[in-house]
Amino acid sequence: MSDLFDLIIPPNPPREVMADGAMLLRGAALPYETDILTAIQTIATRSPFRHMVTPGGYVMSVAMTNCGAAGWVTDRTGYRYDALDPESGQPWPVMPASFLDLAVSAATEAGYPDFMPDACLINRYEPGARLSLHQDKNERDFANPIVSVSLGLPATFQFGGLKRNDPVRKFALRHGDVAVWGGPSRLRYHGVPKLKDGEHGTVGRMRLNLTFRGAL
Ligand code: SIN
Ligand code: FE2
Repeated sequence: MSDLFDLIIPPNPPREVMADGAMLLRGAALPYETDILTAIQTIATRSPFRHMVTPGGYVMSVAMTNCGAAGWVTDRTGYRYDALDPESGQPWPVMPASFLDLAVSAATEAGYPDFMPDACLINRYEPGARLSLHQDKNERDFANPIVSVSLGLPATFQFGGLKRNDPVRKFALRHGDVAVWGGPSRLRYHGVPKLKDGEHGTVGRMRLNLTFRGAL
């Protein structure tokens, strides 16, 4: 009997609680995969991926671009959101409908039904690239969660506490996974250690990550 049920009822995609207010929605981006990958190519023609410089003068190993009303940027003067791409002097590309759809449905599923992102940072990790432990705190209103979509090569996601030295839990993020953190977890430290080399069937030798924010 249970064998028959397994055949006709698709299993619910696994949902993991990462912490209070933080969820991991395995595979939630898979239905959007083609739309997202196509849209990233279009966005990168107008606002190419670039390695930004931190206020301390380090060149980031992760290459970044943005879409939406505001984009996250860093340079020697600090971190901020900017309506214009500093490289082109033009507004960032518009956020595609498929991006909005995915971000809103993932946020809703994670318990944040009012989320309406106005910024999407697009991170490109090549093997060896990493993002050190940090908080996302340049946004105006922390009532909005962060919705983070992983595509391509797998990565380890470090999810810590509200203080830099709090213990860190590790989650394997794979192609199509979506992590959402908000509420009491909104300001948790997080990071991605060096990406391991590999080749992903659709995305190639890289990991792409989208983080949706309510920035303005
Ligand atoms: C970020 O914190 O902006 C990116 C996290 C990730 O790449 O998974
Ligand atoms: Fe972040």
